[in-house]
Amino acid sequence: MADITVRPMATGDADRVLAIYQAGLDAGNASFEVTAPTWAAFDAARLAAHRFVAVDSDGTVLGWIAVSPTSARAVYAGVVEHSVYVDPAAQGRGIARLLLGTLIASTEAAGIWTIQSGIFPENTASLALHERAGFRVIGVRERVGRHHDRWRDVVLLERRSPAVT
Ligand SMILES: CC(C)(COP(=O)(O)OP(=O)(O)OC[C@H]1O[C@@H](n2cnc3c(N)ncnc32)[C@H](O)[C@@H]1OP(=O)(O)O)[C@@H](O)C(=O)NCCC(=O)NCCS
Repeated sequence: MADITVRPMATGDADRVLAIYQAGLDAGNASFEVTAPTWAAFDAARLAAHRFVAVDSDGTVLGWIAVSPTSARAVYAGVVEHSVYVDPAAQGRGIARLLLGTLIASTEAAGIWTIQSGIFPENTASLALHERAGFRVIGVRERVGRHHDRWRDVVLLERRSPAVT
């Protein structure tokens, strides 16, 4: 991991970010979505202050993490939903753990108290990653949506920050 660093996501990262996003969608267990959005749509839906990329020593982007607000209601202003995607060729090296740690620190420093995520039960890598990072399983939504013509469950997870009191 010595060669991997995390920095804020920039507009110039758009192509790599969206390519890694698409690779994750193509693998079939990341999301109900099947096509990555345009950069404009990605950019509009995610908070600018809490988006990061992991880069190798050449500056190549190997993974990213970002959050979206969950509600326009003031009471939920500190509740966000995140996505994390790592290049298939770079998985299993601790990159997602590094990105998630950076996101937790940045959101806590901004007073965001809850990060939530919905994960397919088959996505054992993501479930393990999140449980190790302090997320807890809220429950399982059963056959909540169709993906490639089959109904799929979604496990809801959240991490309530102990630092935001
Ligand atoms: C899920 C994903 C982000 C994990 O990224 P990664 O960089 O490979 O994960 P890391 O190497 O940082 O692993 C962190 C922890 O996750 C768990 N983990 C990662 N890959 C795993 C696997 N294949 N099987 C079981 N656990 C795994 C481990 O607990 C690991 O901790 P450890 O190394 O201390 O045991 C990656 O597989 C990915 O991009 N998948 C496609 C997109 C996706 O599904 N995103 C999540 C949507 S909810």
